Amino acid sequence: MCGIVGYQGREGARDILIEALRRLEYRGYDSAGIAIWNNGTVRLARRQGKVSDLAEAIGDDGFNGSMGLAHTRWATHGVPSERNAHPHKAADITVVHNGIIENYLELKETLKEEGHTFTSDTDTEVIPHLIASLLSKAGSFEGAVRAALRMLKGSYAVGVIREGEDILIAAKKESPLLVGIGDKEFIIASDAPAIINRTNRFIFLEDDDIAVIQKGTLRITNLDGDEVERETRSVQWSGAMAEKGGYRHFMLKEIFEQPRAISDTLIGRIQQEEGEILFEELDLPDITKVRKIWMVACGTSYHACLIGKHIFEANLRIPVETDIASEFRYRDPILGKDDLVILVSQSGETADTIAAMKEAKKRRLHTLAICNVLGSTLSRECHSVIYTHAGPEIGVASTKAFTTQVCVFFMLMLYLGKRLGALDNDDVRRLIGELRKVPHKIQTILDASSSIEDNARENMHYRHFLYLGRGINFPTVLEGALKLKEISYIHAEAYAAGEMKHGPIALIDENMPIVFVSPRDQTYKKTCSNMEEVLARKGKVLLFTDDTRHDMAGRVDALFVVPESIYELQPILSIVPLQLMAYYMANLLGTDVDQPRNLAKSVTVE
Ligand code: M6R
Repeated sequence: MCGIVGYQGREGARDILIEALRRLEYRGYDSAGIAIWNNGTVRLARRQGKVSDLAEAIGDDGFNGSMGLAHTRWATHGVPSERNAHPHKAADITVVHNGIIENYLELKETLKEEGHTFTSDTDTEVIPHLIASLLSKAGSFEGAVRAALRMLKGSYAVGVIREGEDILIAAKKESPLLVGIGDKEFIIASDAPAIINRTNRFIFLEDDDIAVIQKGTLRITNLDGDEVERETRSVQWSGAMAEKGGYRHFMLKEIFEQPRAISDTLIGRIQQEEGEILFEELDLPDITKVRKIWMVACGTSYHACLIGKHIFEANLRIPVETDIASEFRYRDPILGKDDLVILVSQSGETADTIAAMKEAKKRRLHTLAICNVLGSTLSRECHSVIYTHAGPEIGVASTKAFTTQVCVFFMLMLYLGKRLGALDNDDVRRLIGELRKVPHKIQTILDASSSIEDNARENMHYRHFLYLGRGINFPTVLEGALKLKEISYIHAEAYAAGEMKHGPIALIDENMPIVFVSPRDQTYKKTCSNMEEVLARKGKVLLFTDDTRHDMAGRVDALFVVPESIYELQPILSIVPLQLMAYYMANLLGTDVDQPRNLAKSVTVE
């Protein structure tokens, strides 16, 4: 998740932009850069590493002007490095960009044929080249930007300046961008915290808006060039709230970011009409020879593996073995010579997962990472990597990393299914269609979050919870229970519902709420029977389902309905209210939600 800022006004742009970059640091980044416009010429500086390194590099030697752009990069295309850092410049056009340009390879090829030379591995670099190539035909800077944006597929928030023209252009599609209105100055930014020190008045740009800032005026048009009206809003946030985008905690912010995180993970990879999944980065050996797939990880990422196993086995009919990384590394697993080992990690730095990867490599097996942090140890050292594009996850409790990992497993299943002949184009088209609906469905759950908060208030005084689910939702309840225990310190245990009678049933009484995840799938009737057994023992049932007419509705203590989806994708929906329930209980109990006691975000030691 990159951060962009741009300034035009009466004061020196340099300090304002550097301060804004510092305020974006919480988003996580690997490099930063700045471009300053001064009397018609543009100077650029970029550095891998921290904003302070960039600030030191530009020093005081006249690197200042009335307009500029700056960027913190969270790498998606191309490793973190100075040449991949933004801004990118081509001819007299300079651009900062947040988002993913899906058709950049095609555009790059055409531009190369026209004689353009590229110096980075990024998708972004095509944008300044494209604008530069369209300038003479479009007849104006603004016209060329508009023409270029119409050719881009994917998501973008961009800031663009040109040498010789005192104009700052900003535009967005599916990536956030706002214009801050200050005292005789305009500042564009990917979020309000970056510039809240200078103004609290913002225009939140909408998709396909193009904002043109010129000589103290702001004009907003659509892609056709027609002027559009946008409301100016004032926000009243404290500094700490602003950093979290107005949310009380990073965890809540990250739960609410899931629709966006999932969309970003799908962008550029799903081709519904063609019934195809594109994983450019993937370089697998002959998949038809694979006899067994291993999925290995820790914590929440391990729970994603358990779901991945269901997704793969149901559709590919290849045996999948899941393992906790700390077990895999020491138990001398029986690995076949053509087995594929998938290692899953948000951070890519978890010591046990890295050790498991080394073990698999020692046995000469192909290792594939599913990882959120570009350039992390796991992503560098595995043979192949697929990135979840969830953006930085700061709360210790993993939320958006989990749902994006499951999405990657689903896409990988489609990808392999085509290659193994287990799925045809129609199957893949239909399944992609289901996947594309997920972000919107999650949004409807988030929109109803107040009912989960009410429920959390009613139940937060209980000290023990049991979580039960079956099939693909057994991992969902494992993950739900982990969320509750790690941030609220309430004891929560999860079982496959069929195991209840083999022990945990002894715990059930009126002081033990039981969380059931029971969608209308093949396990439905069996889970209803388990609920009957709990109610007969005066247990309190909190039911999460996709069925508004659930057989147990009216008899349970609380019912929360999530949208329906296919079996393989239901966990991504069912986990969201469980994340929210854990969050609200912890918040009401006053624990340190983002940094719970005894836990670290990244467990880099054994
Ligand atoms: O960065 P990783 O995904 O490898 O981290 C694995 C676990 O440490 C992590 O998922 C942990 O369980 C979280 N605190 C769960 O919310």
